[in-house]
Amino acid sequence: MKKQLSEEQIHSLIDQAIGMLQYSYIPYSHFAVGAALLAKNGKVYTGCNIENAALTPTNCAERTAFFKAVSEGVKEFDAIAIVGGKNRKAEEFCTPCGVCRQVMMEWCNPDDFQIITGKADGEYQIHTLRQYLPDGFGPTDLQ
Ligand code: THU
Repeated sequence: MKKQLSEEQIHSLIDQAIGMLQYSYIPYSHFAVGAALLAKNGKVYTGCNIENAALTPTNCAERTAFFKAVSEGVKEFDAIAIVGGKNRKAEEFCTPCGVCRQVMMEWCNPDDFQIITGKADGEYQIHTLRQYLPDGFGPTDLQ
């Protein structure tokens, strides 16, 4: 079921995502991304992007947050807030990359999972995973 998020919850998630921008390891792109993932148990798992000299091992902020949660046995989620930008500022909307959308598809109901993209000025947008990944391939396709 899609969770009814209050304005307070939305802004709290965005603020926690913004708080992660300081930890982004971004020597190559200088583009910081922060994420705050709300699990159905009420816990929030945060993440930042972590780059690598070999480039392809780079991990996005969203996947860092998901992998932190799943590695602790948590696999049910309601929403994720994502922020990002140059100079560790969140002045424009930062939407999730295709790989992260696919990773979300593994554990999230695409019609219920809410993806909040936020900015430091408080403006935000909410899309479902289905909107970002129509006709996505997921675990049920293998059943
Ligand atoms: N990045 C994310 O962390 N999440 C996204 O959804 C978009 C891209 C990161 C990867 C890389 O460290 C930097 O942003 C530039 O692509």
